[in-house]
Amino acid sequence: GKKIILDCDPGHDDAVAILLALGNPAIDLLGVTTVGGNQSLDKVTYNARAVLEKAHAVDVPVHMGCGRPLIREPEAAATIHGQSGLDGVELPVPSRPLDEGHAVNWIIDTIMANPPQTITLVPTGPLTNIALAARLEPRIVERVKEVVLMGGGYHVGNWSAVAEFNVKVDPEAAHIVFNESWPLTMVGLDLTHQALCTPAVQRRMEALGTDLASFVSGLMDFFRASYRENQDFVDPPVHDPCTVAYLIDPTVITTRRCPVDVEIHGDLTLGMTVADFRGAEPTPEECHTQVAVHLDVERFWDLVIDAIRALG
Ligand code: BDR
Ligand code: CA
Repeated sequence: GKKIILDCDPGHDDAVAILLALGNPAIDLLGVTTVGGNQSLDKVTYNARAVLEKAHAVDVPVHMGCGRPLIREPEAAATIHGQSGLDGVELPVPSRPLDEGHAVNWIIDTIMANPPQTITLVPTGPLTNIALAARLEPRIVERVKEVVLMGGGYHVGNWSAVAEFNVKVDPEAAHIVFNESWPLTMVGLDLTHQALCTPAVQRRMEALGTDLASFVSGLMDFFRASYRENQDFVDPPVHDPCTVAYLIDPTVITTRRCPVDVEIHGDLTLGMTVADFRGAEPTPEECHTQVAVHLDVERFWDLVIDAIRALG
């Protein structure tokens, strides 16, 4: 399968991304790295380990990364993910100890130890670890196959009028990551707001009848309530697994190639991902960034549900 490193901050939707990566044979999840975001670093790291435990995937290494943004103060998303970062379900106690070594070093070592163009980075939290890795070992930029990240949006925001959470909380890190020359796909809110977990989707999960399926359904109940209360949604958008779905089957998502940059000076626009659709300079062919536009919603949920089924 495709070798990926999932850099995340679980997080209800990060948890689903982990499960999709584990449960689909097209993906080889080399490891999970964590970053402070939805909740504190300690909490999201515990959550990542607990989700792996729940999926009986205790052989997947977990490395803890940065606990705060490069420059700004940390900002958690307790209104969306609760005090634990994964509220609404009971978490199993992880049986495997946390792996030693900082996530940034582990990401670098793993990329450098594997053949060029074989590893895909999948960030689904703030981009602090990935930015630091690129600065600490610049050779990873050429060596990585591609970066497929959840963050940003070219028309919508959720943490301000124009900025998305993962980019907004560490805009300088995002600026670094978007401006490195690696092929980068921005799976932003324009795409992920199509990945709504409707009651019908949840009934399909529950029909699987497994402990894991009811765990995911419990996560979705809490996520729905959060989004109803705080973001004016009826059903919650399950952002992060859209990245993994794209890697499993690129036809699930249509993309558009265009330059994207991150606003780090703006007052009203801090953390905005600015996509230039004019097609002038660089031309779409020369451009290393693309944005996700349209989701095959049916196929996406089929992949998620198949993965939960496969994990038993
Ligand atoms: C992103 O922010 C987090 O709350 C989610 O896990 C997702 O990665 C959506 O803006
Ligand atoms: Ca996330």
